[in-house]
Amino acid sequence: MKVKIRDGRCVRIREAKRSDAEELLCHIKELAKERIYLLMEPEETPKTVEEEEKFINIYQKKNRKFLVALVDGRIVGSADCRIGRFRKTGHTASFGVAVRKEYRNLGIGTALLSELMKWAEEMGAEKLWLSVFSTNERAISLYKKLGFEVECIRNGQFRIDGKYVDEIIMAKWIR
Ligand SMILES: CC(C)(COP(=O)(O)OP(=O)(O)OC[C@H]1O[C@@H](n2cnc3c(N)ncnc32)[C@H](O)[C@@H]1OP(=O)(O)O)[C@@H](O)C(=O)NCCC(=O)NCCS
Repeated sequence: MKVKIRDGRCVRIREAKRSDAEELLCHIKELAKERIYLLMEPEETPKTVEEEEKFINIYQKKNRKFLVALVDGRIVGSADCRIGRFRKTGHTASFGVAVRKEYRNLGIGTALLSELMKWAEEMGAEKLWLSVFSTNERAISLYKKLGFEVECIRNGQFRIDGKYVDEIIMAKWIR
C-alpha cells in the first residue's frame, strides 16, 4: 500500500519479511537509544540479526501482523498487532508502533496504525488496546485521534532514570 505523507513524499507500507531483519534491528536500536518512548533499553533489544529474524518469523502466525513503512526504499517505521492468543482474549488486539525520529509528524504512525486496525477488525477483534507512557504526548494524541480512549492508569509502572512514570492503557471498542 502507498500513502502520501505530509512532506509530499510517498510511504510504502508492507508486511515485514525475514530479509528486513538487519535494517529492523538498526531501527529498533536507534529508537531504544532515545530511552523515553520504548520499554526496551538499548541493551535489551535483540543482539543479532538471527534473533531479529526469529522475531519477524513469530509474526507469520495468523493472529499477528508486523508492518514496515518505507520511504525511498528505507525502513523508517514499524508497527505490530497481536490478537489475543487465548480464547478468553481472542476478541482483543494490541498494538505497538515506532517511527524514526526524522520521519515523525508526517502521518506515518497514522498510516501504519490505521492499516493494522483495519486488519484487526477484519480478523474479528472487538477491543483494540495499547499501552503508553504517560509522558508520551505525541503518541497519546495520535491514539486519541484514532479513537482510543484512556481505559486505566497504572501508577509508577515504569521507572526511567529513577523517575516513576505512569502507564496509560488506552482502548477502542469496535461495535
Ligand atoms: C508516536 C509515533 C509512533 C507517532 O508517529 P508519527 O508518524 O509521528 O505520527 P503522525 O504524524 O501520524 O501523528 C502524530 C500526531 O501527533 C501530533 N503531535 C505531535 N507532537 C505532539 C505533542 N507534543 N503533543 C500532542 N500532539 C502532538 C501531530 O500533530 C500529529 O497529529 P495530526 O496528524 O492531527 O497533526 C512516533 O512519534 C514515534 O515513533 N515516537 C517514538 C516511539 C513511540 O513513542 N512509540 C509509541 C510507544 S507507545
